[in-house]
Amino acid sequence: MALDVARVRKDFPVLERHINGKPLVYLDSANTSQKPHAVIDAMTEFLQNGYAPINRSAYTLAAEATELFEGARSSVARFINAPHDHEIVFTRNATEAINLIAYSWGCANLNKGDVVVLTHMEHHANIVPWHMLVQERGIEIRWVPLTADGQLDLSNIDSLLTGAKLFAFTAMSNVLGTITPVAELCAKAHQHGALALVDGCQSVPHMPTDVASIGADFLAFSSHKMCGPSGIGVLWAHEKLLDAMPPFIGGGNMISDVRLDGFTCAELPYKFEAGTPPITEAIGLGAAVNYLNGMECTTCASTNGLSPKLHFTHSPSASVMTSSSTAHKMLMCEVPPSALLSATCTHTMSAKCSISTTSASAPDTIAPSRSCAS
Ligand SMILES: Cc1ncc(COP(=O)(O)O)c(C=O)c1O
Repeated sequence: MALDVARVRKDFPVLERHINGKPLVYLDSANTSQKPHAVIDAMTEFLQNGYAPINRSAYTLAAEATELFEGARSSVARFINAPHDHEIVFTRNATEAINLIAYSWGCANLNKGDVVVLTHMEHHANIVPWHMLVQERGIEIRWVPLTADGQLDLSNIDSLLTGAKLFAFTAMSNVLGTITPVAELCAKAHQHGALALVDGCQSVPHMPTDVASIGADFLAFSSHKMCGPSGIGVLWAHEKLLDAMPPFIGGGNMISDVRLDGFTCAELPYKFEAGTPPITEAIGLGAAVNYLNGMECTTCASTNGLSPKLHFTHSPSASVMTSSSTAHKMLMCEVPPSALLSATCTHTMSAKCSISTTSASAPDTIAPSRSCAS
């Protein structure tokens, strides 16, 4: 299915810039994506005409702000097919979402010798929190290695998962572009009595995500990688898991009652949203989700609950190569018409992760040096 690149390009005001006399090309979207007018306008409108606190105050502005904030939560819930809006916990980013799981669920459920299984293709955000629990609680980390072609080597998965309490893995590698068999891995985890944490940082922006069919227990992702603002991320988990987990950070907003001798937690999701939340950012994320929902090419068949929407391929004459991960990330692989960018629906996402701007005709880029290892 063809994508109208010129039309999409117009949605992103930054792409009107020229640098060194050349049209701007942004290739760092796996790191963080640019923002469309829809997101910028929603946030500006709120800041200019509707800014107010949420949940606490009974006046018109606050009621409107609460409605917008909770509307954004509903949009995010629908975007990943979450059964309940209150299963969507707003965090600062995916990193904080994973740390929330490590500290709240981990400290309540992991003790000395308990096993967490990770893979060699994890982002630091899904490694360091578990290393910290090795140091603090004496848990054990086991690692799923990679094959020579950048896939997960699952030949020993049953033995790695034996006795494990959690299998935490990425749905799409930020380094390799590899798409992992999420539903299969979640099922494997459950077969061994472990919970499954999916790092959806790269996959949620790229592919329709259906938490129900994936079979995950936890899903973490970041707004800034999916056309939304930075400063807000999402943790989704099953209601029953969130209900059983202790709060992560204490303070206002996460309590229903505070006494001299203790406190009572607020209901979900506020129990995990201590302090004043990122109100404007949530509204921006809601606008980003609505923007993405309006994109073309959403009808590809589903694989394991994750459906690659688009796969950008350059014609052989194209001068700028990027990973499918980067390119697909919010349609931001912008090249001049001469580069003949084409978009097709496919499940076959290239695992290539190289950026070459060596051609004389390659236009300027922003920060390609970080490649996909954002
Ligand atoms: C796969 C993956 N997981 C986690 C993260 C961390 O995201 P954030 O920095 O938004 O918390 C990233 C960021 O690049 C990522 O690519």
